[in-house]
Amino acid sequence: MAPKITRPFCAQLGKCLHSQFGQCVAIKQPGIPAGVLQSQLSAFSSSASRNGSVADPPACLFKPLNVPHKLLMGPGPSNAYPRVLAAQSLPLLGHLQKEFHEVLDEVKAGIQYIFQTQNAWTFAVSATGMGAMETAAVNLLEIGDVALVGVNGFWGARLAEIAERNGSVAKRMVKPMGQVFTLEDIEQGLKEHKPKVVFLTYGESSGGTAQPLAGVGELCHKYGALLMVDSVAILGGAPLFMDEWNIDALYTGAQKVLSTPPSISPISFSQKARDVILGRKTKVRSFYLDAPELANYWGCDENPRRYHHTAMISSVYALREGLAEVAEKGLEKSWAQHAACAELLYEGLDKMGLELLVQDKSVRNPCVTVIKVPEGVDWKKVSDHAMDNHQVEIAGGFGELAGKVWRVGVMGYNCTPENVYKTLAVLKEGLDVHWKKN
Ligand SMILES: Cc1ncc(COP(=O)(O)O)c(C=O)c1O
Repeated sequence: MAPKITRPFCAQLGKCLHSQFGQCVAIKQPGIPAGVLQSQLSAFSSSASRNGSVADPPACLFKPLNVPHKLLMGPGPSNAYPRVLAAQSLPLLGHLQKEFHEVLDEVKAGIQYIFQTQNAWTFAVSATGMGAMETAAVNLLEIGDVALVGVNGFWGARLAEIAERNGSVAKRMVKPMGQVFTLEDIEQGLKEHKPKVVFLTYGESSGGTAQPLAGVGELCHKYGALLMVDSVAILGGAPLFMDEWNIDALYTGAQKVLSTPPSISPISFSQKARDVILGRKTKVRSFYLDAPELANYWGCDENPRRYHHTAMISSVYALREGLAEVAEKGLEKSWAQHAACAELLYEGLDKMGLELLVQDKSVRNPCVTVIKVPEGVDWKKVSDHAMDNHQVEIAGGFGELAGKVWRVGVMGYNCTPENVYKTLAVLKEGLDVHWKKN
C-alpha cells in the first residue's frame, strides 16, 4: 500500500497547486470550464498521493525565513550596503537581453575602475573569490606548467593545491604567517624555478599582511613569468594599480570592501595574460571557468555575445551597486577611510594590552587585523561572548594560527569609527570576563 501523505502538508500543497494551476490555466485556456479544471486537479493530486512517489514537503519551509541582524566584524562577509540588498529584489531580466548587457557593461567599467586597469578582459565570474582564484589559475596554467606560489598564509597554500589539481606544478615559496616576500625572495624563486606564473596574495586574511607589489610585476616579466594576485581581502581598502604594477591576473571577492553578498567575483587579465591564454596548447580544463568564453559573454571581444551560462542576474545588480558605492566615494577616500579605521583599531587594541601578529605596520592589511590571543585566554569564549551578548562577529584564526589569534575585519559598509569602537568595547568586555590576569 502506498504511504499516506500527512494531512496538514497535503492540504497546504493541494491549496498551492490549486491556486497555481488555476491561475495558469485561466491565462492560457480561458475557455476551460471550472468543473473540468477541478477534476483535472483532483485526478493529479490523488494520483500523486496514491503511488506514494511524493515525499512530504519539509515542515521548516512553512515557517517564515528568520535571519537575525549581526554586525559582521570578521574577515568577511561584511554587512551588505542597503542599496546592494535592495538591488537584488529588482525584476529579473533575461541574460541575453540588451538592458541586461548594459548593466554588464556598467559592472565592467566599475571593475576597471576599482582595479585601475584598461584591460579589455575584465569581467566577473559567477562564483565566490575562490572561483575567481581558480579561474585565473586554470586559464593561465596548463598541465606541467610551473607556478611559483608565495605561501605566507592560507591562500597561497590553497592556490598551490588548485594548481596541482590542474596538473600543474606548484613551487612553494614559504614564509611564516604575518610576514611578506621581498623582491629578493621572489627573484630567487624566479631564478630557481623558472615559473610561468608567480602568485602572491596582496591582502592576506589569515595572516593579516599586505604584500608590497611595486616592482614585482617588472621582475616577473624580466624572467618571462606572469604575475597573478589575490586581492579578495584588501581591494578598495588599500591602493592597488593593476596596470601600473604590471599585474597580469587580478581578482577579488564581493563580500569584503564591496559589501555585496558573496556570489560574484571581479577578475581581469592583462594583454600578456590574454595572449598566453589564447595561445594555449590545450583547452582550459574547466568549461565553466573558461576565460575566453566568459570574456565573450561579457562583451570583452569583438564577437557577438554567446550564451555560456545563465548569468547571476540579481548578483550582477548587487555588484553594480557595490561598485557604485566605491565609485561615488572615490578610491582614494575609500583607501583613506580604511587606513584611518585600522589606525583606530590598532590604538584601541594597544590600550587593551593586545599585540598584533604583523609587527611591521607598513605591511599590515588595513582590512583584516590579526590579534594575538594572550596567554591563558580561550579565544572562543571571548568570541562567543561578543556574539551571544552583542551579535558582533569576531573571528578566530585558521591554519597554523587556529586558537592563537582573533581576526577583526573593518571593511566597506562596516568601515566606520563607530563600528571600530563597538568592536573594541565588546572585545574588552569579553576579555574582562575571560582574562584572569595575575
Ligand atoms: C585572501 C582571500 N582569498 C580568497 C578568498 C576566497 O574567497 P571566497 O571565500 O569568497 O571563495 C578569501 C576569503 O576569505 C580570502 O580572504
